[in-house]
Amino acid sequence: MIIFNSAEKLKNHLNELRSQGNTIGFAPTMGALHQGHISLIAIAKAQCDVVVCSIFVNPTQFNDLKDLDKYPRTLEADTALLESANCDILFAPEINEIYSAEELLLKQENKEDKSWMQGKNVDFGMMDKVMEGALRPGHFNGVAQVVSKLFRIVNPHKAFFGQKDFQQLSIIRSMVNQLELPIEIVACPIVRETDGLAMSSRNIRITPEEREMVPYIYKTLVAVSAIYLYSNIINIKKLVAGAFEETGIFELEYFELVDADTLQPIEDFKSAKSVVACVAVKLKNVRLIDNIVLY
Ligand code: PAJ
Repeated sequence: MIIFNSAEKLKNHLNELRSQGNTIGFAPTMGALHQGHISLIAIAKAQCDVVVCSIFVNPTQFNDLKDLDKYPRTLEADTALLESANCDILFAPEINEIYSAEELLLKQENKEDKSWMQGKNVDFGMMDKVMEGALRPGHFNGVAQVVSKLFRIVNPHKAFFGQKDFQQLSIIRSMVNQLELPIEIVACPIVRETDGLAMSSRNIRITPEEREMVPYIYKTLVAVSAIYLYSNIINIKKLVAGAFEETGIFELEYFELVDADTLQPIEDFKSAKSVVACVAVKLKNVRLIDNIVLY
């Protein structure tokens, strides 16, 4: 695996590979890699000649600076994992390879930077106003900002994103469409621990007592997928809220049944082509998200 810190050098190297007829696959990450990330590399390897993974803890998508500080940084272990997954290229840039001083200043002043839209008026409509977007103002602007910058550097044929972050995946698809980028976005299934807990870099912050309880999140989603045909939205929401409350350790931030295309809460099961149940819960030191596609 070749490791690049410089965006310019990576660009040149990839231009060369592209001109030789290689297809480029790209999986952007923030590091603290686990098998969920590695599955993206494996899927990319199966579909592309050259696979690039980036590791960059992106400050503009954190609305809580404490969360940015606390974010695990494990570059050595990450490099070893990527090597064993046969990843071809790791891009691990310093912050000034990605952001100018002006852009970082805007972030410090808590202002949303729209320059990544490249003069176009990218509008996510209501898609970034619900769920994660409602609770983390500016988060998806920061995600779109960094991913569009990384796309400009890597210029991949295909980019691989996990369905674990369902809303992020939809927003990236919408961004690619609106910016008219010639990149295929590939959705990859959620990788789980054997007890159902969705893998996440944040799982290391779960206490041992909480670890016993957290499979409950996925179990609840599976239960929803089993009963939704025989119930209605109001009852399902009541049931889920009650189930989490009963445990005494989860604070339910949201549970939504959303249209997979628009991400808006559905009014009934008949009107949506595809529905996803999305959940976010807070524990003592960590908040966890998960989802299940109902149909
Ligand atoms: P990060 O949380 O590191 O996730 C990187 C990619 O791995 C995302 O596409 C995410 O959906 C996927 N992923 C994480 N856990 C997964 C799991 N259990 N199963 C399958 N895929 C999983 O998402 C980000 O970083 C950032 O927002 C980023 C897109 C890199 C922009 O900074």
